[in-house]
Amino acid sequence: MIPLSLARIAQVTGGQLRGTLPPLWGDAVVSGEVVIDSRLAGAGGLFAAVAGERSDGHDFAAAAVAAGATAVLATRPVPVPSVLVADVPAALAALARFVVDALPAARIAGITGSSGKTSTKDLAAQLTERLGPTIAPAGSYNNEFGHPLTVLRADASTRYLVLELSARGLGHIAHLCRIAPPRYGVVLNVGHAHAGEFGGLDQVARAKGELAEALPVDGTAILNAGDPRVLAMAARTQARVVTFGAEDSDACVRAAHVRLDDLGRPSFTLLTPEGSAPVTLRLHGAHNVPNALAAAALARELGLSLDAIADGLCAAVARSRWRMEVHRRADGVTVINDAYNANPESVRAAIDALAHLAQGSRGFAVLGHMAELGGSSRASHEDIGEYAVSGPSGSGLAGLIAVGEEAAPLLAGARRVSSWPGEALAVPDGAAALDVLANRLEPGDVVLVKASRAARLEGVAAELLSINQPSVNQPREADR
Ligand SMILES: Nc1ncnc2c1ncn2[C@@H]1O[C@H](COP(=O)(O)OP(=O)(O)O)[C@@H](O)[C@H]1O
Ligand SMILES: [Mg+2]
Repeated sequence: MIPLSLARIAQVTGGQLRGTLPPLWGDAVVSGEVVIDSRLAGAGGLFAAVAGERSDGHDFAAAAVAAGATAVLATRPVPVPSVLVADVPAALAALARFVVDALPAARIAGITGSSGKTSTKDLAAQLTERLGPTIAPAGSYNNEFGHPLTVLRADASTRYLVLELSARGLGHIAHLCRIAPPRYGVVLNVGHAHAGEFGGLDQVARAKGELAEALPVDGTAILNAGDPRVLAMAARTQARVVTFGAEDSDACVRAAHVRLDDLGRPSFTLLTPEGSAPVTLRLHGAHNVPNALAAAALARELGLSLDAIADGLCAAVARSRWRMEVHRRADGVTVINDAYNANPESVRAAIDALAHLAQGSRGFAVLGHMAELGGSSRASHEDIGEYAVSGPSGSGLAGLIAVGEEAAPLLAGARRVSSWPGEALAVPDGAAALDVLANRLEPGDVVLVKASRAARLEGVAAELLSINQPSVNQPREADR
């Protein structure tokens, strides 16, 4: 972060300095990271204490300062130097906006959509890094905590901020856009993620379109030509509109000749007004093609050459975990770990990828529940159960293992396909799913593990691979 004195932080956040240091301690400077996990507090940083579901950050204030933090942002008195504020997210927002305003050379891009924000953000950041120093969130740091914490990592050297914007309701994206006003806005798709909370797809579109509305007249809205609800956002922005889409669309940035290798990695010809270039992604699944096009369209707007874009896309790796990770075991069983989150669109995308990988062999889908679908939850699970066993092209799915709370509707959907010869089972939890698989998996089989974050099925994939995944240390990472 840019160095700021505690006195300045108090001024910007409307907070009060508290603490036990000598009178001039307001001159003490924060120059390290701003964190909300005390275990991540380091030299010269600022620890923002928030009350979580299981613990209250204020209890770790002293530990954070002992670990080197200059002070604590708190809402109640703590026994260490602190800036006392009424509301921590609001204080972080004010601080982040102050930092953004102090860094006019940093160009800000926001990425939103129902599915693919993190994947696209990671691709886009790997392109802008070729242009200059880039700050992008780790994982899905995309909400009222993660967004300002990411922005606060910027300093005078930063040239690009590539930010992921999430919403669980109207006004959320508008709020994030006020914290770091984007000049470039990418909208990927409007789908069913959190549709229950929003109250339907039109409301999701209203919310995601707040990004288009926030763009300035000299900004650029980068819209998915393949999603009518996204394309309609062109009418809601004063910015210039640039589109991405399929070869047969009239989009500016397109993909032609899309094909997948045996591990589901897409190759395509990237078509732009400047010419075309071949691209082979290291990411798995055809759904990463629009994500790559969105990243390419953004990088192109920022001035990256076609060759560098194509080269960057070919070199880009998956930076965030549990999204379509494909591992092949020594015994020839392939495991697709896509257990980060799930909504109807992303489950279909994952099933399509499974069907591709399992061509000529047996595919198993271990599906947990899709959270936060509201009133359409039951029907959505039934539809997914049906889709899983009928597949995009009558795939060779050998088994559907439905786990946990929505297992019954998943199975009911699968049973609609009376011609399906495979086996559908409901199990209560991941351990039971592993038991079922242990008796069935043979060399050559492909297993997809997919569910919402709350189902915690990533452990099933880890167990299948018999690898010890280090525990993640991403407090309040949003599942959006
Ligand atoms: N364009 C897309 N369409 C459908 N599913 C997608 C798309 N991009 C990614 N996914 C899938 O959605 C899930 C979440 O991906 P992620 O990039 O983390 O998106 P988000 O940040 O929007 O939640 C993963 O399972 C991923 O494979
Ligand atoms: Mg995300």
